[in-house]
Amino acid sequence: MNHPSLTSPLSTLGAGVLLALAGCRSNPASAEAVLPVPLDAHSHAEPNRVRVRHVDLDLTVDFAARVASGRVELDLVRLDPSAPLVLDALALEIQDATGSDGTPRDFTLAPPDELLGSALTIELEPWDDSVVVRYATTPASEAMQWLTPEQTRDGTHPFLFTQGESILTRSWIPLQDSPGVRVTYAARIRVPDGLTAVMSAEQLGLEDGVWRFRMERPIPPYLIALGVGRLEFRALSARCGVWAEPSFVDAAAAELEDTEAMVRSAEKLFGPYRWGRYDMLVLPPAFPYGGMENPRLTFLTPTMFAGDKSLVSLIAHELAHSWSGNLVTNATWRDFWLNEGTTTYFEQRIMEEVYGPARSEMEQQLGYEGLVRSKAEMDPRDTVLFIDLSGRHPDEGSTDVPYEKGALFLRRLEQLFGRERFDEFLTEYFDANAFRSITTPEFEAYLRAHLLASDPARAAGVDVEEWLYEPGLPADAPRPASAELARVDEALRLLGSAATSAELDTDGWVTQQWLHFLEGMPADLTAERMAELDATFAFTASDNDEILAVWLRLAIAHGYAAADERLELFLMTVGRRKFLQPLYTELAKTESGKLRAHQIYAQARPRYHSVSTGTIDDILDWERGDSE
Ligand code: BES
Ligand code: ZN
Repeated sequence: MNHPSLTSPLSTLGAGVLLALAGCRSNPASAEAVLPVPLDAHSHAEPNRVRVRHVDLDLTVDFAARVASGRVELDLVRLDPSAPLVLDALALEIQDATGSDGTPRDFTLAPPDELLGSALTIELEPWDDSVVVRYATTPASEAMQWLTPEQTRDGTHPFLFTQGESILTRSWIPLQDSPGVRVTYAARIRVPDGLTAVMSAEQLGLEDGVWRFRMERPIPPYLIALGVGRLEFRALSARCGVWAEPSFVDAAAAELEDTEAMVRSAEKLFGPYRWGRYDMLVLPPAFPYGGMENPRLTFLTPTMFAGDKSLVSLIAHELAHSWSGNLVTNATWRDFWLNEGTTTYFEQRIMEEVYGPARSEMEQQLGYEGLVRSKAEMDPRDTVLFIDLSGRHPDEGSTDVPYEKGALFLRRLEQLFGRERFDEFLTEYFDANAFRSITTPEFEAYLRAHLLASDPARAAGVDVEEWLYEPGLPADAPRPASAELARVDEALRLLGSAATSAELDTDGWVTQQWLHFLEGMPADLTAERMAELDATFAFTASDNDEILAVWLRLAIAHGYAAADERLELFLMTVGRRKFLQPLYTELAKTESGKLRAHQIYAQARPRYHSVSTGTIDDILDWERGDSE
């Protein structure tokens, strides 16, 4: 097969740029910093002409105005000396721009593109090797979520966090917001007394109300992240720890006690952890994701704290991103599977090391079944790993496909080449591509050269082109099967033949088994049966939010009104999109359900992050401005 769009980025550069690359002397930068960046459909930046390589941020956080203001200084590599600097900016108020000598530079802020925001173009003088932009965020800056004290656990102080992935960093910092453009950064953040600022960087301390940070390894802009709140820290080991609100920090530390063991397992599997510390920040329940792999400081939903460590695969996942994603990064959002598929595979391997194969197999099978369910509803074109996202928002590519199909691809390679050989390959891959952003075709080339070519007979067992560039699941996809979940299937069969649920053998079942049980419920479940199940297993009272979320969806689908109150409370407090989406979708299936959804949403919407409202607005045909 021929992929005309897959030519190496080098060949797309003009000769002038190559000359500039070679002659870039007045502006010393490591060779790494000026490697060509592939074209990114989701950024206005022109990093092959002028490249930002360091970001120096100075911001004051104003909770009353819900605005951060100050300046950013951007260090530049001038590959094309005649070119202006083009940045991404979204919902920002730009005050002015100055050059290296401190004098003003002309700039234009183009009208915003609906998906990408504005191009901010700054004219440069020949001697400029940096610019300073003075700016302020606005309440419409989607990366920032401002929480009232009532939205926190302790209820005493406000909270702010940022979420950069995929293309939101441009709404709180004007920069070249493409994952192919790696930057180091430094920051000074002024926050009100009594609040602590944390970032995806080394925390250098507090001086006169200013928190200072430094990230010395080049990272993609979507990984620049800030959290501000009433926070306390607990060490878990010499290099791991957790930040959380004071009333929760001990419980959080208990749940996360295996973190150091996970880091050790990860290092044993695929090479050294290269970021120094691995800390975690527990966010309020409005956080729209399960976890976000901000370097040195994973951001976590509080919904993963079930009290029994049953949901800690989330930590294995975000930790794994310290290799797949943060060290070797998807160069564009078409290559998102490189981040998430590799991470999902790595996550499963960490879980196997720390908790044994049975736990990992259960989780793999649940992941696989999720993929099969969602794939059935998807446009086949969106089931391609190297997905075409032109004209679309990158988050539309964030489905089970990059995660689960991506992981199955690596699992297939492991099967063919054997674990030892495959682990050796992955370790070398992370090492050879460390601190680089790569495309799917570059991954493919690396795979062919370093794994497939070494053993053509085994390589013949996998059609790499089909896996990467074709829709659907190849016939050779491994099919995870867990004996523990087979036990659950047995119980589900008994349930079908009208046994009362108390007779089922659920002894010693763990969270993953309960999830499989609930996902396997017959479509014709009655409200009476729901009540009977609830009387036996107390699902409505579950404090495991994964179990609760599936149960609440069933309650909507089967008209089990006794869970109504719990549902409303859940929707009013939890902002995690993965939970909200199925619940609102289920509600929207009937007229009365949709009416109820609108009533709840009218109240809950101001508490959700834009990431979540973006999805739920569509589900409910919500017009911005509807009874807000
Ligand atoms: N990097 C993702 C979160 C993300 C994806 C943010 C796309 C923005 C756009 C993170 O690592 C992730 O995958 N989180 C999952 C949990 C994981 C265990 C599957 C989540 O939030 O549910
Ligand atoms: Zn992930």
